[in-house]
Amino acid sequence: MADAKKLFIKTYGCQMNVYDSERMAEALGTSGYVTTDRPDDADMILLNTCHIREKAAEKVYSELGRMKAFKAARPEVKIAVAGCVAQAEGAEIMRRQPAVDLVVGPQSYHRLPALEAETAKGNTALDTDFPEEDKFEHMPARPKARRAPAAFLTVQEGCDKFCAFCVVPYTRGAEVSRPVDRVLREARDLVERGVREITLLGQNVNAYHGVGEDGKDWGLARLIRKLAEIDGLARIRFTTSHTNDMEDDLIAAHGDCDKLMPYLHLPVQSGSDKILKLMNRKHTAAEYLSVIARIRAARPDILLSGDFIVGFPGETEEDFQDTLALVRAVNYGQAYSFKYSSRPGTPAAERALVDPSEADDRLQRLQALLSEQQKAAQLAMVGRIVNVLFEKPGRLEGQMVGKSDHLHAVHVYAPEVSRGEIRQVRITSSSSNSLAGELI
Ligand code: 5AD
Ligand code: SF4
Repeated sequence: MADAKKLFIKTYGCQMNVYDSERMAEALGTSGYVTTDRPDDADMILLNTCHIREKAAEKVYSELGRMKAFKAARPEVKIAVAGCVAQAEGAEIMRRQPAVDLVVGPQSYHRLPALEAETAKGNTALDTDFPEEDKFEHMPARPKARRAPAAFLTVQEGCDKFCAFCVVPYTRGAEVSRPVDRVLREARDLVERGVREITLLGQNVNAYHGVGEDGKDWGLARLIRKLAEIDGLARIRFTTSHTNDMEDDLIAAHGDCDKLMPYLHLPVQSGSDKILKLMNRKHTAAEYLSVIARIRAARPDILLSGDFIVGFPGETEEDFQDTLALVRAVNYGQAYSFKYSSRPGTPAAERALVDPSEADDRLQRLQALLSEQQKAAQLAMVGRIVNVLFEKPGRLEGQMVGKSDHLHAVHVYAPEVSRGEIRQVRITSSSSNSLAGELI
């Protein structure tokens, strides 16, 4: 394909954007594009953006500033903006940065070939609708190429929870679940192409309610059990979940479905009931802890992960101490924490901010505690034998890198092992963000 056009995609934000970027590359494949990892070679540069915090959105505009210079040197290059900034700001992006040729929101990716055709004629193109049709059904069939051993699969999009700080219900819209048969078809297709681990994605994935093969409503647990029947698929994960949708059958699946991995990302955001209420999380700290206790009863070795926001409007030192107490009570294996960022259009945007230096100080204290817990969880793996799904060669000669059941990155000297193999490894040491071990 000597005359194939080249597409460079830069992905910001969450795993759903990673998945969407792959699907957009496939959609543009039908317009004659192949992907490149070198922006200098590209005929189209596509930024798949994130709007969750102000910093994430601002990064996009500074990147677009660089693109403008790039385009001055090569005017034929098309600049496209997708993702949540595209959805939230639409035509405003082209106004702020006229170098942009194409703006497409997350619900319109199946229309990319038509939008690209517009830009080929020298026009700009904009689509930030929420169309009725399922975009994934209208995406071109996935090419039959071999895949990396671990893949994402979006099963649910959007969110109906309306946490007071969050833009997702506005940028990604209302909750929609893909029907079971389409998810199964995509999963089988991935497995045929070498995938051994699938992470089911959704902004509120455990609120999944898809139409089943029997015409009935299926929850996430039932979907997982059905996926577990696929031969060759070894591991299933899902992210991200809400406490109030952690139903009994999903908790039970953690105990009795062997392919469901012992790792759960369950954000709580704060340990203070007052703040949880102001955040509109619709549960208390005690209710969160009781869900955690039930999950641990079902799967005692589960590794827990979470998200936290510090400095939410109204948060006092006492509220923050409640967050630290909750973190101590749960003992996370891994977690993400953020300073509150006011997002225009969300209910909390109107409220008075916590003093920024106070918020910074809280973030540091929280991160110190979380990293202590992460270190301890990693150290606890040393000496243990774990299953590792090998994904790629490491930096050292003969080294392979993979993930354990608990999602730890593991480095092993294993020249004879190939990608996609699952092997038992004895963990010998722990460093800041990964483990090392030897094959047994
Ligand atoms: N400010 C800071 N963090 C936020 N998050 C979502 N919205 C905001 C915001 N306005 C965090 C939450 C969420 C994660 C994906 O991002 O912790 O779980
Ligand atoms: Fe945002 Fe998650 Fe709350 Fe939905 S549940 S509004 S995605 S933080």
